[in-house]
Amino acid sequence: MCRAAIFAVFVSALSAQSIQFIPAKKVFVLSSPHSTYAMGVSPDGELQHLYWGAALWRVDDLPAAERKRDISSFDPHEMLEAEEYPGWGGPRFYEPALKITRADGDRDLVLHYASHKIDGDRLLITLRDIKEDVEANLDYRIYPDTGIVSRRVQIVNRSKQAFTIESAQSATWNLPEGDGYRLSYLSGRWAAETQLNREPIHEGMKVLESRLGESGHNLNPWFAIDQGNADEQHGSVWFGALAWSGNWRITVEQTPYKQVRVTGGLNTFDFAQPLNPGQSFDTPEFFAGYSANGFGEASRLLHNLERTHIEPGGATARVRPVLYNSWEATEFNVDEPGQRALADKAAKLGVELFVMDDGWFGKRNTDNAGLGDWTVNPQKFPNGLKPLIDHVNSLGMDFGLWVEPEMVNPDSDLYRAHPDWVMNFPGRPRSLLRNQLVLNLARSDVRDYIFGFLDKLATENHLRYFKWDMNRIFAEPGWPDVPLDQQKEIWRQYVLNYYEILRRLREKHPNLEIESCSGGGGRIDLGVLRYVDEVWTSDNTEAFDRLRIQEGFSEAYAAKFMSAWVTDVPNMNHRSTPLSYRFLVAMQGALGIGSNLNKFSAEDTELATKMIALDKRIRETVQMGDLYRLLLPSENDTASNQYISKDGKEAVLFAFRHSQEYNTAPPTIHLAGLDPKATYKLETIDNKLVEKQPELSGAYLMQNGLNLILRGDFDSTIVLLHRVSKD
Ligand code: DGJ
Repeated sequence: MCRAAIFAVFVSALSAQSIQFIPAKKVFVLSSPHSTYAMGVSPDGELQHLYWGAALWRVDDLPAAERKRDISSFDPHEMLEAEEYPGWGGPRFYEPALKITRADGDRDLVLHYASHKIDGDRLLITLRDIKEDVEANLDYRIYPDTGIVSRRVQIVNRSKQAFTIESAQSATWNLPEGDGYRLSYLSGRWAAETQLNREPIHEGMKVLESRLGESGHNLNPWFAIDQGNADEQHGSVWFGALAWSGNWRITVEQTPYKQVRVTGGLNTFDFAQPLNPGQSFDTPEFFAGYSANGFGEASRLLHNLERTHIEPGGATARVRPVLYNSWEATEFNVDEPGQRALADKAAKLGVELFVMDDGWFGKRNTDNAGLGDWTVNPQKFPNGLKPLIDHVNSLGMDFGLWVEPEMVNPDSDLYRAHPDWVMNFPGRPRSLLRNQLVLNLARSDVRDYIFGFLDKLATENHLRYFKWDMNRIFAEPGWPDVPLDQQKEIWRQYVLNYYEILRRLREKHPNLEIESCSGGGGRIDLGVLRYVDEVWTSDNTEAFDRLRIQEGFSEAYAAKFMSAWVTDVPNMNHRSTPLSYRFLVAMQGALGIGSNLNKFSAEDTELATKMIALDKRIRETVQMGDLYRLLLPSENDTASNQYISKDGKEAVLFAFRHSQEYNTAPPTIHLAGLDPKATYKLETIDNKLVEKQPELSGAYLMQNGLNLILRGDFDSTIVLLHRVSKD
């Protein structure tokens, strides 16, 4: 039986009992071939964390949860124990998962196990406060194919009085007690998103968060923690990603007792959620997993989860088509003849989806006006959009349209009619950013208006795709129309309504695909990935900068979601890189073209046509396969990524050299993840391989490696490997 088949049998055998309860010890075990996660009920009734790491085969090895001994009156046992979902109560002063204030002023909350239910791969554990007035229903789910566990919680008010939730986190993740942990996280800003940081974890707390209203350019809701200096292929890595596109918070805390805890969910900043008797409140979902084989495997596990269980359509979703987008070519100067001309040229190159960006509606000639008026601009498109869409379709391409539904320019008919629709505090300034204001999408009339015009656009036009943009962060997040105690719900309700519109649109228009964009990568997270097909990675399309943005992106998100365009040079940084380099960088994601095709020379056209044809050959491997980051651009003069198709028959190697110095050769690249016993036929498009053997074994490619001829500045190449035999 081949390895894949054995694995499949193992997985299916386990999934029948991927969750076990051992009554004698009151221990819960969540198992997969990748990892084991265990917790137990202590004699006091606390739900304590017991184990998270490499897969265990003998559940009897797990201890029962126990009450620890107080060290001193400053270090009580409650501070030493690792609770799965701690309330703020008793002498617990680490970051709580749940904090409330009751109407009568009582703020103490001690959650104890009440009951549980196992349902296939789901485990529901009910915790109750010792006074039985507050209930936390912990909802665990294990994905046996990756070992990733997801958690979310429903808080229920079981009492006769109201309370206010001040913090309701999705999960607390406890790491094994110990030293030598490092935290990896993604930070950045506009045009410099998803930069990878790696730093030691010390006592105290590190806060990763967004208070911006969206998941944000500045920090991304993903973390990885390794122990003992893991690398791409070795070492223990615990990782997680939060499925939320609004204000979020992940704290990484090391206590004085060598405990490392990650607590995350909705941001507690400006948060207050009233809950009346009988009402309930649901948190977003937080996914986390374990890799015994370094950061590379951690990413691959997350990518598999995203493609199989998160993205719309899951495993049946198509690979991303080659897209053309008009923005960098024309900015706001779109019109029918101009778009037709670009479409003609794009079709000849092999583009499959033509997207018209900003500028087609209202009085949208600059960013000063028009947002909110979603009717076609009659000067630019005197006969509406139909002739252009028909033309694009007749060229064999699908048509997509840019929208920015949540925003309004003060100079728009919408704002003149509904100035009360924007978020605001009455009598206070309304801060303009990019000359626009944010509609209060928490309002149901605004939600219905946005759904209404998007639905109309999708119904009246033959649209395959919306690029949904969001070009500013929140300010003055006031919601004066609801009672005072509900006004802070604006942050969460906004996101829930955003998701609802996306869900309803997809339901009503099953063929419609959506891109999440927020001035580049401001809204990228597992929450939005449930509703969209790709995300705009960054407004920075400069190919060398992109290597590092894409490296960080790939830590958390799969290549197929990573929209990547080839654009004109000189680009940001006043840098010019060769067209082939720009193509190869972009072909590591969902390839798009953003160049002004009217300026393409005959050679550019010839090269672009070849590269697009090549992309169509390799994209299944890149987008759906397993990524191995071989040389990181953040650490080397040469960057290299390798992708292997799921059936192991195809592999693709990309390499990029920044700048040669002292006439040196680039480093030898050791391939990874190949079958050592198989042989592979090597295909190159530019003869930059030192090795001249037409076929090489997996063992040789991984042990000896490949040597490339990369010279000068911004040189690049691609090697295709086709498996020819098993031995
Ligand atoms: C910001 C986006 O990131 C760009 O790609 C483009 O769509 C502009 N907005 C249009 O205003």
